[in-house]
Amino acid sequence: MIESRLLPHAPEELTRGKLKRLGEGIGKVVYASENWVVKRERSPSEVVALIVLWRVLRKVERLLPARLGRRLVQRPSSQIRVLRVLMQAAMRLFPRALWFSTHIQQVWKQYHFSSARGERLAREVLSGTPLIPEEVAFPPVEVRVGGWLGTLTVSSATERVETTLQQRLAELARDGRYGELELWLERLLELRKSGWSRGLFSLDAHLKNFGVVRDRVVLLDPGGLTDKLSDIERRLAMEEEVPHPHVRLGLEKYLSNRPEIAARFDARWKAQVNRSVLRQLWPVPAAVPVRLR
Ligand SMILES: Nc1ncnc2c1ncn2[C@@H]1O[C@H](COP(=O)(O)OP(=O)(O)O)[C@@H](O)[C@H]1O
Ligand SMILES: [Mg+2]
Repeated sequence: MIESRLLPHAPEELTRGKLKRLGEGIGKVVYASENWVVKRERSPSEVVALIVLWRVLRKVERLLPARLGRRLVQRPSSQIRVLRVLMQAAMRLFPRALWFSTHIQQVWKQYHFSSARGERLAREVLSGTPLIPEEVAFPPVEVRVGGWLGTLTVSSATERVETTLQQRLAELARDGRYGELELWLERLLELRKSGWSRGLFSLDAHLKNFGVVRDRVVLLDPGGLTDKLSDIERRLAMEEEVPHPHVRLGLEKYLSNRPEIAARFDARWKAQVNRSVLRQLWPVPAAVPVRLR
């Protein structure tokens, strides 16, 4: 956890009523009161069930006609949840060795490693900066949450953002407010670059992992953060080959009737998200003193 401010007790609104399930990813489920969110880490079997499920869905997607396949992979989270519970039940019927077989185990270890590394980097470099939501820590307290779980014990909470960047962009596109949509995309680019100038890069930079606070974009999910230059350059080399960054970011459906904005964004993105800009911004490592004999 990224602990920045220590409170004598949990914010009162966390224990006043039942917290609403707000969002989820592969590793966490997020519950919210008015101004704060708390996170439940999923168990390893839940994470493995989701990894297997996504692999199956993606394979099935490739076999189906494009539209149907896309719909399947964009399933609303309630349906994914049902599939995940079924998958976990199936996992119980087969020997553990099968599910934790070499490949899946590798994916799980990779996930676990990069999420721990990301949290450490966020704690060391981003705590207290405007790049991430504020985090508070307090003595453990039991909170009531919606869903089957009932209660959850937590000792930290995160500032609740207004919406995810994904939701904000969807709303703006729906209302035809394309000028603002472009502005938010520009703010995303600025946030990413201010991360780079601190020696951090997110390998998991999709729109649901960013949030909106007033006029700022913040990083919600430190999970993919890395400071390893060789991994980053390999990733950027791949991204430089992507012909339409807006499609890759999932913006195609919002910009389908505004091709000129899509083209402008692609050009802007390509000019900013590349190895040469990264090298300009990346901090120069502190010189190691050379010892003379
Ligand atoms: N501070 C926050 N305010 C509002 N929603 C949040 C916040 N943090 C996370 N969320 C929501 O919860 C989802 C999952 O959180 P995330 O940290 O990305 O988990 P995971 O590591 O499992 O991907 C996010 O995509 C977002 O929708
Ligand atoms: Mg996430």
